Amino acid sequence: MSLSELKLPDYREQSLAVAQRFQRIRERPVVLSVRNLQKAFGSNGSQHVAFDHVSLDIHRREFICVVGPSGCGKSTLARIVAGLDEATGGEILLNGEAFAGPCPERGMVFQGYTLFPWLTVKRNVMFGLQMQGKAPVTAEQEARQWLDMVGLSKFENLYPHELSGGMKQRVAIARALANGPRILIMDEPFAALDAQTRCQMQAYLLQIWKKVNVTILFITHDLDEAAYLADRILVMSANPGRVAELIENPVPRPRHSDQFLSPEFLALKKRLEEHIHPPAEVPEKLPMIKLTDAGDEVE
Ligand SMILES: Nc1ncnc2c1ncn2[C@@H]1O[C@H](COP(=O)(O)OP(=O)(O)OP(=O)(O)O)[C@@H](O)[C@H]1O
Ligand SMILES: [Mg+2]
Repeated sequence: MSLSELKLPDYREQSLAVAQRFQRIRERPVVLSVRNLQKAFGSNGSQHVAFDHVSLDIHRREFICVVGPSGCGKSTLARIVAGLDEATGGEILLNGEAFAGPCPERGMVFQGYTLFPWLTVKRNVMFGLQMQGKAPVTAEQEARQWLDMVGLSKFENLYPHELSGGMKQRVAIARALANGPRILIMDEPFAALDAQTRCQMQAYLLQIWKKVNVTILFITHDLDEAAYLADRILVMSANPGRVAELIENPVPRPRHSDQFLSPEFLALKKRLEEHIHPPAEVPEKLPMIKLTDAGDEVE
């Protein structure tokens, strides 16, 4: 192929489409409003502030990823938003109203496998529906629809130990979505999966998100994952956890793996990397005793 035949994407058109996408998102109502949130552990004598001054407005059907170094408070934030823990300062509003404790409006998927091992796949998904008071026949019907959505209809009678890690997490997603949450909070749901399954699960999740009326708050360590999934990425810094930056993801949708080497994707990753791996400050001369054999030096 000659150079003149090489077709480059029209970047002006692409960035206009991205700007329009964010305009449309901003016009949607705010579902979740996190205002000046703080969480401290321990008593007054030895208090540890996990994070503070965290503020964020999430619009309906938005996909927000949260990244940041270990210990910056991502899981704590997820648990508070899910109503499983309480903040020590600030407030969270769901559709403009304060809330206390868990409720079906917020579903959660964790990193660890949390299915009930003594229940089949179908019964795991039915569980929440029956807890809501639905008749077994209705719960079964709805559970089947959700299992169909995550592509696991054929496995409804298996037990969790008979499933792969990726399948277990798909059941966990079906179980969370079956309760009809407006917000799905996912704390590193794919972290325990191998790289290939993880990529498949990310693509699955985007497909599900397209079809289901849900807003997603997704915690991850993986910058590629955040760049592939998110509309906006909340970058947190540590000690104490704070919002370092809230980035609008310039990668066009629909997303596909070819974009991993696109200029937008690489620029976004570079910006994320700068937060996560700031340039190391290595002292010029470290007082070191050499314990290696001559000729075995490494750089
Ligand atoms: N129940 C608890 N009691 C006391 N301190 C806690 C508790 N839970 C979390 N912390 C502290 O709060 C801080 C934030 O923890 P958290 O688990 O939210 O971090 P994280 O960003 O999710 O980390 P990782 O990326 O490793 O999962 C840490 O310093 C942790 O030690
Ligand atoms: Mg965590």
